[in-house]
Amino acid sequence: MKKYLLIFVLASLSISIFAQQQNYELVVNVNKVGAEVQPHMYGLFFEDINFGADGGLYAELIKNRSFDFPQSLMGWKTFGNVTVKNENGPFDRNPNYVRLSNAGHGHKHTGLENEGFRGIGLKKDATYRFSVWARTVNNNTTQKIRIEFIDAENNAFERKELEITSNEWKKHEVVLTSPKEEEKASLRIFLTSEGSLDLEHISLFPTDTWKGRENGLRRDLVEALDELNPGLFRFPGGCIVEGTDLETRYDWKKSIGQVENRPLNENRWHYTFAHRLFPDYFQTYGMGFYELFLLSEDMGAEPLPVVNAGLACQYQNDGEHCHVPVGELGDYIQDALDLIEFANGDITTEWGKIRAEMGHPEPFNMKFIGIGNEQWGPEYPARLEKFIEAIRAKYPEIKIIGSSGPQAEGEDFEYLWPEMKRLKVDLVDEHYYRSPEWFLDQADRYDSYDRKGPKVFAGEYASHHQNRKNNLESALTEAAFMTGLERNADIVHMATYAPLLAHVDAWQWRPDLIWFDNLRVARTPNYYVQKIYAHNSGTNVLPITWNKKPLTGQEGLYASSVIDTDKKEIIIKLSNASEELKNINISLEGLKRKMRIQPALEYTVLSGDKDLENSLDNPEAILPKTSFKTITGTKIDVDLDPNSFNMFIVKYTD
Ligand code: AHR
Repeated sequence: MKKYLLIFVLASLSISIFAQQQNYELVVNVNKVGAEVQPHMYGLFFEDINFGADGGLYAELIKNRSFDFPQSLMGWKTFGNVTVKNENGPFDRNPNYVRLSNAGHGHKHTGLENEGFRGIGLKKDATYRFSVWARTVNNNTTQKIRIEFIDAENNAFERKELEITSNEWKKHEVVLTSPKEEEKASLRIFLTSEGSLDLEHISLFPTDTWKGRENGLRRDLVEALDELNPGLFRFPGGCIVEGTDLETRYDWKKSIGQVENRPLNENRWHYTFAHRLFPDYFQTYGMGFYELFLLSEDMGAEPLPVVNAGLACQYQNDGEHCHVPVGELGDYIQDALDLIEFANGDITTEWGKIRAEMGHPEPFNMKFIGIGNEQWGPEYPARLEKFIEAIRAKYPEIKIIGSSGPQAEGEDFEYLWPEMKRLKVDLVDEHYYRSPEWFLDQADRYDSYDRKGPKVFAGEYASHHQNRKNNLESALTEAAFMTGLERNADIVHMATYAPLLAHVDAWQWRPDLIWFDNLRVARTPNYYVQKIYAHNSGTNVLPITWNKKPLTGQEGLYASSVIDTDKKEIIIKLSNASEELKNINISLEGLKRKMRIQPALEYTVLSGDKDLENSLDNPEAILPKTSFKTITGTKIDVDLDPNSFNMFIVKYTD
C-alpha cells in the first residue's frame, strides 16, 4: 500500500513540476540589429497639477506672496492694522501690496501670518532665505519687523529682525535657521515699531535648493526626477496649456523676466473637478519657461515645450466662438516663433538677448515643439496648419508635434491621425489613461502601425487601476505595455507617463508618478518601471520571439529586447502578467564571430503582491531587486515570478 502511495505522490509531483515547467524557448537574434532607440525615448511630462509647481517643485514656501490672488489676503491671516494697497507698488504686473500700521496701543499688535502650501515644511537645522520688498511710509523714519516661524501648536520657534530705513522700495533679506523639523509651520511677520511700512513680494525659500539657485526648485523632488535619467522633458502641460479660456492659457512670455513682475495666472486645476475644489491654486509663473529649460538642461533631457494652438480647452468650451479665429492667429504663431528664438537664438536676437540677460547666453538647443494639447475636430488641423507653415518657413529643423486628441481610439482619433499625416507633423501625441487590462491588451498596438507617416509620441499614459492607485498591478501592466513601445522604437520615438507629481494633501488627479508632502517624497512602483526603461533603453532594437513571434501576451508573457552598442550590453525585458511562475529559456542566436558573452548576468526584478503600494510612511514597500547569476554559453535559463517585470543584462565583448 505504502509503495502505491509513494508512486502516486511521485507521479503527481512530476505532473505538477511538469505543469509548472512548461518551457518557453525564446530567441534573441543578436545579428538582426534593428531600429535605433531614440536617446530621448523615455522622458517626463510635467504639468502644474496636484500642486506640482507652486507648492511642489518650485521651492517657494509662501502662498500668495504678492497679494494678487483675487481674494488678496488668501493664505494670510492678519491682525491689527493691515490694509491692502495697489497704488505705486514696485511691480506693475502684480500691483497689490500690504501696509502695516501701528495698532494704536502698546499692548496691541499689527502683523500677518502665511499658511504656506498646506503648511510650510521646515527641516531641522536647515536655513531659509526670507526676502521682502519694503518701504517706510513716511520720510526719515526707521521701521522694524520681526519674522518668526510658528509651529502647528502656535509656538514661535525662530525669529529674526529687519530694519527698513528708506521710503524707496528695496529688497531686504534675512536668513532664518529652523531648530526643529516641522511639516506644517507658518510664517509670522510682526510690526515692532511705531509707524507704518509697506511690504510686497514676501518670499521664503530653503537655501538648499536644487543647485543652490535662489529662485530655485525643491532639491529632493528634482533629485527624484533626475534619478530617472529622462531623455525628454515636456512642459508646461497638459490642459493648462489650453486654459479654461484663452485669457488663462499658459502664456510663456509672462513666465520669464524678473520673478516679482511675472503676473499671476489662474490654475484651471483649482476648479476642474468640482468634487475636489482647490480655490487657493494659482500659478505664480515663478518657475517659468526659463527655469523649465534650465531644468531640462540639468537633467540632460531634450526640452519639449507645448504652446496653445489658439484653442481654449475643448472640454470646457463648445464651438468656434471660444477660440481664436483662424485668420487671427498671428500673435499665437508669433509666440511659438519667439519661443524658438528665446531657446535657440543668439544673444543679438530680441528673445535670445532676454535669455542671456536671465543668465543663459548659450542656447538651450531646443529641437521639438508641441502645438496644442488634447484638441479635436476640424478646428484643430485648421489652426495647426498655420503654425506649421510659419515654423517650417523660419525653423525647418524644429520637429513639430501634433495631437491625436484625448482618446486612444474612436472617431476623433480616426479623424485626426490622417489629418496629422496630411499636415506632415513629425510626431503625433497620443494619450491613454486606461485600465490595466487595456494596457495588457495593447502591447501589440504599434506592431501594425503605418511606418510611412509621422512618428508616435506616447505623451500621456497611465494604467488606471479601479481605485486609481499607484499599486504594483498598474506598474506591471505599464511595464508589459512598454515592451510594445520598445519593440516598435522605429515608430515610437518618445513616451512620457502622466501626471508626474502630486502633493498628498492637494491632488486633483491620480495615479501620479511621484507623491510628496512638505518634507518627504515617495517613488511609486510605476516610477521604478520608468526608471528601469530609461536607464536601459539601449541603442537599437533586437528581435525577441517565442515560436517565431513577438511575445505580446501569449500565456501572460510580454517581451522586448535591445542592444546597447556603446555599453556592449544585450538587454532583455520580460513581463509575466500571469499568476504562475514561468520557466524561460532564452537563446542568444546569430552572434558575430568575435562576440563573446560574459558569464555574469545582471537580473533585476519587480514583483510581489499586486496590491502593494509605496507611501510616504512606507516608501520602499516595492523596490526593484538586482542580483547576478552566472550563465554558460549563450543560453539563459530563468524562472519568472508570477506578476513580475524582469530585466536581464548580458554583457559582451567583440
Ligand atoms: O495629466 C492630466 C491631464 O490629462 C492633462 O492635463 C491632460 O492633457 C489630460 O487630459
